Amino acid sequence: MPSAPHYQALEPQTSDDDEDIENCKVPALVSTPCGGAATPAAMTMPPRWSRPRPVSSVSSRRRCWLPVICVVGFFLVFFYFTLNSENRFTLGLGNANLDDSEDAVYGAHNGLDSTNSHAINESLHICSESHEDRRVYMQDKPRNAYAQLPVIYFVTPTYPRREQIPELTRLAHTLLHVPHIHWLVANDHERCDTFIDILLNRFGIPFTHMASPMPSKFRGSKPAPRGVANRRAVLQWIRQNNLTNGILYFGDDDNTYDLRLFDEIRPTQRVSMFPVGLIADYAVSGPVVRQGKVVAFLDSWIAGRRWPVDMAGFAVNLNYMSQYPNVNMPYKPGYEEDLFLRSINLHIDQIEPRGNNCTEILVWHTQTKNKKAPVVRLEAKYMDGRSNLGALFRALKVMGVASASDNEGPIALISKNGKEKSHSLILS
Ligand SMILES: *[C@@H]1O[C@H](CO)[C@@H](O)[C@H](O)[C@H]1NC(C)=O
Repeated sequence: MPSAPHYQALEPQTSDDDEDIENCKVPALVSTPCGGAATPAAMTMPPRWSRPRPVSSVSSRRRCWLPVICVVGFFLVFFYFTLNSENRFTLGLGNANLDDSEDAVYGAHNGLDSTNSHAINESLHICSESHEDRRVYMQDKPRNAYAQLPVIYFVTPTYPRREQIPELTRLAHTLLHVPHIHWLVANDHERCDTFIDILLNRFGIPFTHMASPMPSKFRGSKPAPRGVANRRAVLQWIRQNNLTNGILYFGDDDNTYDLRLFDEIRPTQRVSMFPVGLIADYAVSGPVVRQGKVVAFLDSWIAGRRWPVDMAGFAVNLNYMSQYPNVNMPYKPGYEEDLFLRSINLHIDQIEPRGNNCTEILVWHTQTKNKKAPVVRLEAKYMDGRSNLGALFRALKVMGVASASDNEGPIALISKNGKEKSHSLILS
């Protein structure tokens, strides 16, 4: 069981077993004398600034030094941010390959829910749910052959765009092969999308569909913390359902998953990690493994991240996670993985390397080109039962793919025998 006695929730205490974990104690050190305000900033301090004296050595006689430490701490934090935002521009923003979340300007959301000391407590709206597995066979065996396996909670943040339904369809067809899985589809939308309800129901995979819109205060920010509200909603759902068994995995709707990934993450004791293909400049991101142990990380964007891994590059055992009530994923673009893994007090020597000691790619950060849904000019008077086009375009509109208009967009080309025909000739 993943519950050795010393793996306790992150709290202001010293531990002598792992010097790396010193970083995580900085918030406690800084926040104790300075108050809560300094905590979010301190949370992201890189190792070079974070070798403070242990709390236990601050005796009562030295309390007069606290204001001094506090002021010095403040300036260190200030300089860190100044320094790091420059790094961001040189290391991060020049990369054409980085996706939106990695395009983050560091510090864009300083102080907004970015500590790991606040439990997630946001509204959660369940649209539809099914706990019934209607699949008969998975891979080469009947469903009940898999009954003993721990459940994989596969968390998919998604958002309305014209690629949404095709991505979810493709992903569903991967997940159809995966036994004992619960698919958590969290949509960045104010309302429940009934089309998605119907879609998810059809597959027979157990699922929960929730509406988890990004808070409006982040909507305008560039880059916006995409997918964070969704993942937070799922963390909340896990807590509300008191789930302490199974494996948590964050699987975006556009990635490509090798079925062997699921076999690899299912025996996760605490946190397992593996390389992800097509990430940023190196087209790969993942752990460096020596003698079967994770010793470091390869990733083209470090930016002070203690855990510079992709969201799809790790899995977490829920029993392990349940020991950290302050588990969090802050609204801090580019730092979601790092701060999440910090909030569950990960130690490097506990990481379980997967994929043949991290030599194989079992998940790819593929991305579909994101284009605006077009408007096609097709007169409303022809969008009735006389042809398929009315029903077709109504479906495309519901899926957010395209729409027809009387007076907007390029006139729809309709041809026969290689020749363009007028709409009235074919449709009336
Ligand atoms: C990983 O490496 C260790 C040490 O070299 C070895 O004992 C172990 O069998 C390897 N694991 C796999 C899955 O190859």
